Amino acid sequence: MAFLEVNNLYKSFGNAQILKGVSFQMDKGEVFSIIGSSGNGKTTLLRCLNFLETIDRGSITVNGNVILDAENGITTPHLTNRLTFGMVFQNFNLFPQYTALKNVTLAMDLNAKNRLKEQNLTSRQRKSLLKEVCQTNEETAKNLLKRVGLEEKMQHYPCQLSGGQQQRVAIARALALAPDILCFDEPTSALDPELTGEVLKVIKDLRDEGRTMLIVTHEMEFAKHVSDKIIFMADGVIEEMGAPEQVFDSPRSEKTRSFLMKAKE
Ligand SMILES: Nc1ncnc2c1ncn2[C@@H]1O[C@H](COP(=O)(O)OP(=O)(O)OP(=O)(O)O)[C@@H](O)[C@H]1O
Ligand SMILES: [Mg+2]
Repeated sequence: MAFLEVNNLYKSFGNAQILKGVSFQMDKGEVFSIIGSSGNGKTTLLRCLNFLETIDRGSITVNGNVILDAENGITTPHLTNRLTFGMVFQNFNLFPQYTALKNVTLAMDLNAKNRLKEQNLTSRQRKSLLKEVCQTNEETAKNLLKRVGLEEKMQHYPCQLSGGQQQRVAIARALALAPDILCFDEPTSALDPELTGEVLKVIKDLRDEGRTMLIVTHEMEFAKHVSDKIIFMADGVIEEMGAPEQVFDSPRSEKTRSFLMKAKE
């Protein structure tokens, strides 16, 4: 049984059918890169997996548990202290009013607060437990920021950080909720070329640690280097999927070949 099973996802916006039956499977620890021309539904697919969009049809199974099944009424799960999917966005999406550290602890602290609300405690007990958990969260966040090379920048605000540093904060933030599968939507496309390397290095390290990751990217060389499989999307479906050498060096589909030729220009 595969770790992630995406079955026949459909998504439309108004009359526009964007995803037209997307299915694929991943094993734990695998890294897939998704490539394809603009407007082909790559971001939409990641947003559907992260419950940022509702799907029209299809299902998602992780580790044998159906977490989403449009036909059978299994919909957006409640946020818990860990996530099935984590997302790193193209434009970082950090909270500008909070430091790097606070950006990473925020969701963990909110989760702790919600969990404690559900327990039968006095307000004094709740306060004291929350303080304890928040301290642990801060330690976790500091370790994650160290791991992405931002030990010196924890108290900086997003506007005081370079794009590459902001994106590394966003990666630490996504890791904070311990997602099973980490999704990246063009994580380097908003960065100057000299800053892409530091972000790609962090992603490569995560791959080496055995993280399961789905990466939408236009960085073909990087995709070839880090991925177990490449998914080429065209017209709302997976046009071709295979090992990087196969897809990049001997694509089976004419559409893949034509896309790769254009990407080289
Ligand atoms: N919220 C929305 N409402 C209406 N249409 C949308 C919405 N989000 C996306 N779309 C449309 O869905 C299509 C696919 O968009 P999507 O962002 O998934 O493409 P993409 O493959 O990520 O493109 P790019 O490479 O440019 O990022 C586009 O035509 C887009 O205009
Ligand atoms: Mg996109």
